[in-house]
Formats: sequence, C-alpha cells, structure tokens
Amino acid sequence: MIMGRKDKRWVLQRKKDFYYNLAKKQKYRSRATFKLFQLNEKFRFMKEGDIVVDLGCAPGGWLQAAREIVGEKGFVVGVDLQSVKPLPYDNVKTIKGDMTKEETIQKIREILYPAKPTVVISDASPNISGVWDVDHARSIELTTIALKIATKLLKEGGNFAVKVFQGDMFMDYVSLVEKYFEKVYPTKPRASRKESAEVYVVGKGYTGKPWEEEEPVKEEKVEEKIETEELLAKKIKEMRKLKTNKN
Ligand SMILES: C[S@@+](CC[C@H](N)C(=O)[O-])C[C@H]1O[C@@H](n2cnc3c(N)ncnc32)[C@H](O)[C@@H]1O
Repeated sequence: MIMGRKDKRWVLQRKKDFYYNLAKKQKYRSRATFKLFQLNEKFRFMKEGDIVVDLGCAPGGWLQAAREIVGEKGFVVGVDLQSVKPLPYDNVKTIKGDMTKEETIQKIREILYPAKPTVVISDASPNISGVWDVDHARSIELTTIALKIATKLLKEGGNFAVKVFQGDMFMDYVSLVEKYFEKVYPTKPRASRKESAEVYVVGKGYTGKPWEEEEPVKEEKVEEKIETEELLAKKIKEMRKLKTNKN
C-alpha cells in the first residue's frame, strides 16, 4: 500500500505520542487504556471484584485495564464487531457481535447468568465520515444504545462510562444519562488528545429506572439501517426537530 502525505504525517505524529509509546512499552493494546485508568482514578466507578461489560472493546486495551482493576475475583465481558485476540485470563470473555442487536445482549446475559454486571463501559466509535455533524449524530445514536443496554443489564447502583463525540446534542445526552443515574459527570481525561472531538460521560449509581423510549433516538430509528448520507442528514434534522419541540 502506498502511503499518502497525510498518512505519513499521522504515522510520524503517532511515533511521537507519549501515550502511544507508553502503551507499547507496557504491552497495552491501545493508548485508550490510559483513558480508562485516568477516568477511573478520578471517578472510581470500577473496583476490585466488579463485573464489567465493555461495549466496542477491540483491540482490547480497555479489557486489559478493566481486568487489572477488577482482579481475579471480578469478571469482564467485551463485545465488538471485530474479533479480539484472546487475553490470557479465565475471567475475560469476548463476543464477536453487534452491540445494537438484541441477540448480542442476550449472549452477554447468558455468559454472566445468574450474575448481573456492576459496570458498563463503552468506547465504541461509529464509522468516522470526517463530517462533524454526521459523526456527532452517529455517536449520539451509538451512545444512546450503550445507555439503553446499561439500563437493561446493570445491577441497581451500578456504574456507566461512555465515550461521546461532541456536538450540539451532547448536553441532551448528558440529561438523558441523568434520568437513570444518581450522579453524572461529563469529562475529558488527560490521555484524550485536546484536538479530538471525544469526551466521556460517567454515570454513577444506576437508579433501577427502566428504559423509556424517547428523544433523541427512538427504538425504530435505532434499528433502521443508515444506507446513505442523505438518509442520515434527514435523520439529524429529525433529531434536531425533536430537540426543539422538547425545549
Ligand atoms: C476506539 S475502538 C475501542 C478501543 C478499545 N476501548 C481499546 O482500548 O482497545 C472502537 C470500537 O468500537 C467498535 N464498534 C463500533 N460499532 C460497534 C457495534 N455496533 N457493535 C460492536 N462494536 C462496535 C469498533 O469495531 C471498534 O473496535
């Protein structure tokens, strides 16, 4: 494969990146591993013995961090569209599957049965188009699904942490998380690049409130497959209209 100028610049930048190099040195699978450690250092949503579900877990950096935190007595289940190279622990399992599909959630339940997770984390990223609005809308859609899964799986009192791409629906998303968790913190860990659109939302203390279908993403829309940018643009418009009607 021939590298373009942009690709070369990206490779050079990565070589100079502190967390990229640290991850390589410490044998973590991604620089994102440090984001989870830093988030947990600050908000303490994961501890020894916890049962953790990691949505969008490949290549497995967050799985490694979660396993380190929960230790031998805990358990970690990861889900990703991609296969994940197995980690050398009996208490880390992965599922190759789509987190937006009910059958995948059912597989998580089966692996954990009769226990329920105490923590749900998600670093899932939608396909990046490079168009800010489109990526933001896709991210809100995916993070709303992650929140919905958290309400369906978590034990009461459980915790949630999720990556979101910033945009004008971000504060609505934070309000949505606030409906289900006692305390909610929007945050950006040090290891997240300043120029990156990503931010994180931590929800502590799941209230046990069952999921309610509502804006910005309704169930039938989530299920709907986005085939074209045109359809997605229409969808963003609808989501904005719902938001305006709400205000
Ligand atoms: C940034 S990576 C996660 C990195 C991971 N936290 C780590 O530290 O190694 C985002 C992942 O989300 C996954 N993803 C995106 N949409 C998904 C979906 N619908 N179901 C499952 N995984 C998904 C992608 O395949 C990708 O591997």
